[in-house]
Amino acid sequence: MVRLENSAHFDCSSTACQEKSMKSKKVAFAVLVVILGMIGLGSVIADSRMKREVTFNKDVAPIFFSKCADCHRPNDIAPMSLLSYKDARPWARSIKEKVVSREMPPWSPDPKYGEFSNDCRLSQSDVDTITAWVDQGAKEGNPRDLPTAPQFLTGGWQIGKPDVTLQIPEEWTVKPGDPDNYINFFVPTNFTEDTWVQAAEIQPGNRKVVHHVIAFVVTPQAMAKRKEAESQGRRPGASSVMYIDGTLRRTKMDAPVNDDGCNTDGASRTRRGGGGEEAEGALLAGYAPGKGIDVLPAGTAKKVPAGSTIMFQVHYSAFAGSLEKPEKDRTRMGLILAKEPPDKMLITSAVANTMFKIPAGAGSHEVTACMTVPIDLEVVTYMPHMHLRGKDMKYEAVYPDGRRETLLWVPKFSFSWQTMYYLKKPLSIPKGTKIIVTAHFDNSAKNKYNPDPAKEVRWGDPTYDEMMIGWFDIVVPNPAKMLKPAPTGKAASGK
Ligand code: HEC
Repeated sequence: MVRLENSAHFDCSSTACQEKSMKSKKVAFAVLVVILGMIGLGSVIADSRMKREVTFNKDVAPIFFSKCADCHRPNDIAPMSLLSYKDARPWARSIKEKVVSREMPPWSPDPKYGEFSNDCRLSQSDVDTITAWVDQGAKEGNPRDLPTAPQFLTGGWQIGKPDVTLQIPEEWTVKPGDPDNYINFFVPTNFTEDTWVQAAEIQPGNRKVVHHVIAFVVTPQAMAKRKEAESQGRRPGASSVMYIDGTLRRTKMDAPVNDDGCNTDGASRTRRGGGGEEAEGALLAGYAPGKGIDVLPAGTAKKVPAGSTIMFQVHYSAFAGSLEKPEKDRTRMGLILAKEPPDKMLITSAVANTMFKIPAGAGSHEVTACMTVPIDLEVVTYMPHMHLRGKDMKYEAVYPDGRRETLLWVPKFSFSWQTMYYLKKPLSIPKGTKIIVTAHFDNSAKNKYNPDPAKEVRWGDPTYDEMMIGWFDIVVPNPAKMLKPAPTGKAASGK
């Protein structure tokens, strides 16, 4: 558990990476101190480090392992692995270009707002090292200098050995030309008592066809309601404004329109985990390209009530013809359990607007959503979510004293990086604070990812519809801990 306690998160900075990069920072600092002591001249340092020999094994591999390999490893989202010299060497020129331009590793937030523990931008010295390596002919170096790759990079669990593993019950096959599908798989936890989850990792069985996965907690009560609705022939999720299209839920084209969710009640839908009031239930964990695993801050955990079922909602996609043959998937999730009920409970919450309509061809269509927080709480993460027309997203807080503060500003949103931003320090937000989320959508032909600029676009599951969700995780005191005496140290169930 200790390993997880520094709230280390992946993206390009998984637990292993952070430890590594911290270590290399320490080493670099020590070297700096020694050199400074020897020559006493800072300006000479940069010069001397460029001239020394830079090799893959000694200098570059540690950077690739910690900052690139989360995506650049076999069978992940990037086009090539950077785990070995053999794999990386042919890309040297392109690597230099992408790190100098700061396109890689991908990191979207404006650094003026918020400090994030998974900020994976390269330091200038990392960029200089990679540049020098390429300029010197991208040499391999001495095999003895090569550090071993972190284990999770070669197929293991990033969260460590799970206490519980849950897997979708059957294989799902996606054939070339299949439409997008949202498939819900139900997996009983068989937890006999309330259980607290400290870390969760969803491993897609086949990243060629799994676009994203969300694991929801469905309580026994919610499950009973679901079964009742189904037995009466009602489709869960259908409503006066939403319809079900195959396996996809979409806002009706002629439903009322409300782009400014802050001025009118009812437009912005507030999703909250923990209560199970939504059809899906509380959000336990998610997988999306570039998002990483869910490791909760020390002393916090998410609650899975006794008898709950996990609903894996898997978005399968044949990615518009890129598939050559049928592909099978069997996604699974590993959980690390808290050994005792935590003092604080983590809840995934969101401000969303499901009622917007983006006109055909609009280059920068604004949509807002708002929420006034009902209790004092701490915010620990943000995760903007839009689809292919998403352009930018801003989170702001208006405090009870009227002060307005930007919390997160993602000026160039990319659908490819559904990144979760982990705050270095939790942000305390008093009761009565208004959270405002503002998004812009580019439905013009200039947006090269736009599936069809001639179409009006509404909310919907498929990537050719849009979404507007400002996800954020909050931490609140655990009511169970406030009412009951201190725990006796009894282990949680489900082992
Ligand atoms: C969050 C995942 C992620 C991380 C971290 C990441 N990459 Fe990438 N990278 C991708 C994906 C996906 C692509 C292909 C799509 C694109 O180019 O945007 C890519 C493309 C590239 C390309 C271009 C390949 C080509 O087709 O020419 C290079 C070079 C590259 N990455 C290098 C790096 C290096 C070096 C690092 C670390 C310093 C890094 N990347 C970190 C996901 C990532």
